[in-house]
Amino acid sequence: MTSNESKAQATQDDAIEALMVEERRFPPPDNIASRANVKDPAIYEEALADREAYWAGEAGKLHWFKDWDKVLEWNPPFAKWFIGGELNVSYNCIDRHLDDRGDKVAFHWVGEPGDTRTLTFKDLYFEVCRFANALKHLGVRRGDRVAIYMGMIPELPIAMLACARIGAPHTVVFGGFSSDALADRINDTKAKVLITQDGANRRGQVFPLKDNADAAIESTPSVESVVVVERCNNEVTWVEGRDHRWTELVESQVAECPPEEMDAEDVLYILYTSGTTAKPKGIVHSTGGYLTQVASTHRMVFDIKDDDVYWCAADIGWVTGHSYIVYGPLANGCTGVIYEGTPDYPEKDRLWQIAEDYKVTILYTAPTAIRTFMRWGTEWPERHDLSSLRILGSVGEPINPEAWMWYRKHIGGDRCPIVDTWWQTETGAIMISPLPGITTTKPGSATFPLPGVVADVYDEQGESVHLGGGGYLVLKQPWPSMIRTIYGDQDRYVETYWSRYDKETYFAGDGCKRDEEGYFWLMGRIDDVMNVSGHRISTAEVESALVAHPSVAEAAVVGRNDEITGQAIAAFVTLRGGEHGDEALISELRDHVAEKIGKIAKPQSIVFTDDLPKTRSGKIMRRLLRDISEHRKLGDITTLANADIVDEISKLAAASPGED
Ligand code: WT7
Repeated sequence: MTSNESKAQATQDDAIEALMVEERRFPPPDNIASRANVKDPAIYEEALADREAYWAGEAGKLHWFKDWDKVLEWNPPFAKWFIGGELNVSYNCIDRHLDDRGDKVAFHWVGEPGDTRTLTFKDLYFEVCRFANALKHLGVRRGDRVAIYMGMIPELPIAMLACARIGAPHTVVFGGFSSDALADRINDTKAKVLITQDGANRRGQVFPLKDNADAAIESTPSVESVVVVERCNNEVTWVEGRDHRWTELVESQVAECPPEEMDAEDVLYILYTSGTTAKPKGIVHSTGGYLTQVASTHRMVFDIKDDDVYWCAADIGWVTGHSYIVYGPLANGCTGVIYEGTPDYPEKDRLWQIAEDYKVTILYTAPTAIRTFMRWGTEWPERHDLSSLRILGSVGEPINPEAWMWYRKHIGGDRCPIVDTWWQTETGAIMISPLPGITTTKPGSATFPLPGVVADVYDEQGESVHLGGGGYLVLKQPWPSMIRTIYGDQDRYVETYWSRYDKETYFAGDGCKRDEEGYFWLMGRIDDVMNVSGHRISTAEVESALVAHPSVAEAAVVGRNDEITGQAIAAFVTLRGGEHGDEALISELRDHVAEKIGKIAKPQSIVFTDDLPKTRSGKIMRRLLRDISEHRKLGDITTLANADIVDEISKLAAASPGED
């Protein structure tokens, strides 16, 4: 028996086995540690000793019109935070900065064609007030829902903040979604107004947002008015009386609009998770608790200073953009960058060009983007001066250790700490992450729960797994920015998140292991866990082992039904720039995985492909790859970003026989 096999045997009782071992360590660099916003590790103990006092302290950094009477009311699984307190999110994001930072830049905006716009906090104030009045003029009242279907233009955060100002919950629908997806979300929320654009710029083409909106509205009786931003000047059809040009609407509005004094528990927004099978879930977020935790985590995790230029390169249509482009950064009076287009337009160095132009100090992006940059090669970032960067962030998927190392070296110049932040649409804010001035990081680990957050890893029965073992991630105490319910479906809320163990334990749906030092290692969605000869193996670990081979840029593995072993591992591999895969490389990669994490994890088949099927938010669609591997009929692929690739992969998979 090899040592790996005996190790696998020894841990066979774990809900998920931990195979990968990582020895590299990166302590916080002195220049970051010495002036970090959080320097004293005692904060973890203090927050644990009195969580309510901790979160009350963070909430106190916001502006409240009326103080709360009680910090937390917890009737599992329903939490209310800062009960009786009143505040306004747009006031906190804009008005309270005007005296000290009115002329400070809130957003540097870069259009895909190269046009730019700068908005100071004062500019933002005027724009938001005017548009808030325009919404009122259209009959939107406190509590009414507003749907937003836009690309990454300044009017998008302006519209969100205007909704927040008048107390109308918004639901932002990602601008890449189809008219059907838009109609579903409008009908679920019964939105009164839809805000959209004529078209959105995407890789030199115009994506017809208004056409899609028109198609959607045919089946959404709740919509009374449509507001249209003219961005691309493409032809659109116009329904007089229903459709309104943004510019014409705001023209006649005064630039002053008193903020509604909202209850801490009032709904700030509803955001749908892009489920691939079931009906999308409308995740409901609150006002006071949500803003408290996004502002607090943004300040701590990214170590925000007054002179930082912070760039979260996500889309505002996802929760990452809600929390860490709009609400968290603005609440902290921080200067942000927003880019409209794709990273490869006109060339593959667009992001690095922007980072250089605006002297970006903090960059927050996703592993899928990082692996794409790896595939494109180092020459693109090398063309630019990225020395202004001081902190790098990652979110959305487990980051493979090799992608982490590449990010650190080629973007961060071996100098910037990386914060790998675990959270979900449902958690609202970052939950597990390093603090850059305190935490010694390990490539691929999100490290530890943040102060005030209590997480654990459970086995099937709900026992905490021993250090070194793997299982299911749970959150054990309520947190301020947590989901309040699923819009219109309380039962589904209870069933989905609070029923796997007991109603006080939030079930995240992610596999996780903790190493001997207690570091958390996220291992992907539990639906993706494979069962090979009774060994429960995470896709994330096998993928990371593949990505650790110098020829590999990206990998996806799935468990394919197998008569003998239950499931067999099927791998789909994208190679780094210019390389070609052949039989020799297949056997080399299989051996490489066996050597890295054990023979049990050796893929039975490997298919080389130019790209992998991903959701619009960049997550690999393993379910689809499983279907392909089992030569089944393909599932729904409307949420797929690169649908063409499915055809190509199916052909390749059909031609590639299993091995062994
Ligand atoms: C799921 C949530 C959080 C905003 C973007 C995604 C995965 C997220 C990490 C990370 C490993 C991660 C999990 C999670 N995920 N961040 N740092 N390491 N996995 O929001 O679409 O609600 O997805 O993304 O599987 O459950 P989302």
